Amino acid sequence: MKVAIIMGSASDRDVMAPAWETLEEFGIEYEKKVLSAHRNPGPLAEYVSAARANGFDIIIAGAGGAAHLPGVIAALTTLPVIGVPVKSKALNGLDSLLSIVQMPSGIPVATMAIDGARNAALYAVSIFALQDSSMASKLEAFRKRQSDKVLNTTI
Ligand code: RP5
Repeated sequence: MKVAIIMGSASDRDVMAPAWETLEEFGIEYEKKVLSAHRNPGPLAEYVSAARANGFDIIIAGAGGAAHLPGVIAALTTLPVIGVPVKSKALNGLDSLLSIVQMPSGIPVATMAIDGARNAALYAVSIFALQDSSMASKLEAFRKRQSDKVLNTTI
């Protein structure tokens, strides 16, 4: 089980950090890279085209603005791609969201909420849990802890 986390800029780091922190919680191996679809098209294509052969199962991609990165990645691989729209300054992330969620038919990107990096990792966990019973147990335990926390909240 191995995930590649790709972000379009170092400025996406803080938004994307919950993705790798969550993968760490679940003991899932990952690699993180900054690769821009428009600034580094060649190196991005090289990295993504080799991702399956290099043992990756899922790619999480975060980008903001005209956020073509997840869609370009999805075009370069048949691995599942989970997109995270990063909140932009000009349009509060609506541009990022629409750029990622509105993929034309044929090349899907599973799109999370704006700044939804934690859910991207949890979605990856649920994909791994399809085939791996110990990951399914970890996910069940996580859901129970999360549920208990709400039930035990006093106001
Ligand atoms: C996108 O443009 C990045 O994903 C980032 O969210 C946004 C701004 O990038 P920088 O100008 O901060 O490098 O490519």
